[in-house]
Amino acid sequence: MPLPVQDTIQRHRLLPVIEIQDIAQAEPLAKALVDGGLPLAEVTFRSKAAPEAIRIMAAFDALCVGAGTILNVDQARLAIECGARYLVSPGTYPEVIAFARSRQIPIFPGIATPTDIGMALAAGVDVLKFFPAEAYGGLATLKALSGPFPQVKFIPTGGINEQNLASYLAHPKVLACGGSWMVEKSLLAAGNWAEVRARVAGAVQRVKQAAS
Ligand code: 3PG
Repeated sequence: MPLPVQDTIQRHRLLPVIEIQDIAQAEPLAKALVDGGLPLAEVTFRSKAAPEAIRIMAAFDALCVGAGTILNVDQARLAIECGARYLVSPGTYPEVIAFARSRQIPIFPGIATPTDIGMALAAGVDVLKFFPAEAYGGLATLKALSGPFPQVKFIPTGGINEQNLASYLAHPKVLACGGSWMVEKSLLAAGNWAEVRARVAGAVQRVKQAAS
């Protein structure tokens, strides 16, 4: 049975942001994520390889694969066709949100301001990617945005790493944290799966410590 998207993200509280340049990386990457204890992957549409990589990774039952950097409906359609179980966008694009909802696919649009949040709520979604989190004021901004929008859960992304992860996770409105630090491009290019597995396992460990 496929893993339920929001429950899986909520349970693991991490969303690794991945840019795959070569589809040969897809299978070993899927294994490294699962072996590291994290059944999630956001494969960004920033490379030609992304759709096929999603197709390959989506074949792993133990992995809940989504597509990131979705900017328009065509990309959303292709990602879903390839097996993406959820979509992530850097901004709030009402037509993309409407399309995802019409296909019953969870979508986490990016927000950085109260106006963005208002648009996302009007489009019917309330789990939002706070992006780029650190550049837009980090936790202090997230706390300030939570005031007028208590119904929103955030997935802060952008500038998050092993050092600041725990402080974000401690905030009650943070569902999960996204980021590329676990699956850096250079590690994929080098095929350094042991390091990917170690970083993923390290992040999983940090989440457990943050909960205790
Ligand atoms: C994203 O697309 O979500 C970001 O590029 C991730 O940001 P990071 O590389 O700072 O983690």
